[in-house]
Amino acid sequence: MSLQTHVTQAFQIHFGAAPAFVVRAPGRVNLIGEHTDYNDGFVLPMAIDHAVWIALRLRQDGQVHVHSLDLDRSTTFDLAALRYQDEGWAEYVKGVAWALQEAGYALIGWEGVLAGDVPRGAGLSSSAAVELATARAFQVVSGFPWDPPAMARLGQKAENQWVGMNCGIMDQMISAAGEAGHALLIDCRNLETTSVPLPPDTVVVILDTATRRGLVDSAYNERRAQCEAAARYFGLPALRDVSMERFVADAGGLDEVTMRRARHVISENARTVAAAEAMQRGDAVGLGRLMDASHVSMRDDFEISGPALNIMVACAQEEPGCFGARMTGGGFAGCAVALVQASMAEEFAANVAARYQARADLTPAVYVCEASEGASIVL
Ligand code: GLA
Repeated sequence: MSLQTHVTQAFQIHFGAAPAFVVRAPGRVNLIGEHTDYNDGFVLPMAIDHAVWIALRLRQDGQVHVHSLDLDRSTTFDLAALRYQDEGWAEYVKGVAWALQEAGYALIGWEGVLAGDVPRGAGLSSSAAVELATARAFQVVSGFPWDPPAMARLGQKAENQWVGMNCGIMDQMISAAGEAGHALLIDCRNLETTSVPLPPDTVVVILDTATRRGLVDSAYNERRAQCEAAARYFGLPALRDVSMERFVADAGGLDEVTMRRARHVISENARTVAAAEAMQRGDAVGLGRLMDASHVSMRDDFEISGPALNIMVACAQEEPGCFGARMTGGGFAGCAVALVQASMAEEFAANVAARYQARADLTPAVYVCEASEGASIVL
């Protein structure tokens, strides 16, 4: 059963009528450009065909009632009296309501059921998908215009200030603005996007290591602080503004760790722009090489990979038909991403899964992905 049917039928059972609307917002996989977003740099993610769906109808009393089918939990809150209650997933819904109201949107309440198939905690942005699906739900009942960058910024604000995770803008932006069949080069300084097609006859394969990050917020925040310190050292607003030439000439006064952190971000920015150019040329080999180099930089300079991710990337890179592979997302655990010859995708998936299982003694999940569109109204 499709998730659209699933949420529609569940709404019917829960509320005794058909839903007035169904909205969906996708998770994402980042092809390249990691930890560059909060350095005002470039990222190159695509929205995936795994998403969060909400079936809903308007309520006249200013309340929001949501039932999560995956967790079998419900939440109820009043738009006039929002309170943080440490309710897990429900705080993403409340946080978006809070951020929208803070920005001056007049919100109408709604009731609905929510379900998704974005693996949680895997680095595929299940939380951004909840945020943007929620924003779409409010937009469709309240009737304000849909502005993807503005909605992305409010989703990020909800996550930063309501949930308390200090993430950048990439995940919300691609979930809001993704394009079917394309990845988006996003300039995280001004949120300008350029859509780029996958090279002909290639597919993107997500390789889930079956490891999950634990408490890594502190590692994420530490990386952010190191990047900000490096930008200050160079006397520039962000590492985005530091060229590789400037880095090579002047990095000598940085401590060794900060120097490596900065080198990752500066080189990753250049790789990301080059990757978008390779995609425009249809150059799968060039794109794959940049992905491989990105992994080395994350592993050695930024130090956000992990043993399972390194095994998975090696398993993928050894397989015929693989143009390149790297860990993807915030890091430490979760997923790798590979660019693969389309005709070899099934064999690739089976062989990499078996090899990883043998080497890591963990059972991976493999998804051959399609680039989907960003947050949308389906019904
Ligand atoms: C997480 C954050 C993003 C980005 C990535 C790393 O997914 O939410 O903003 O910083 O990590 O590229």
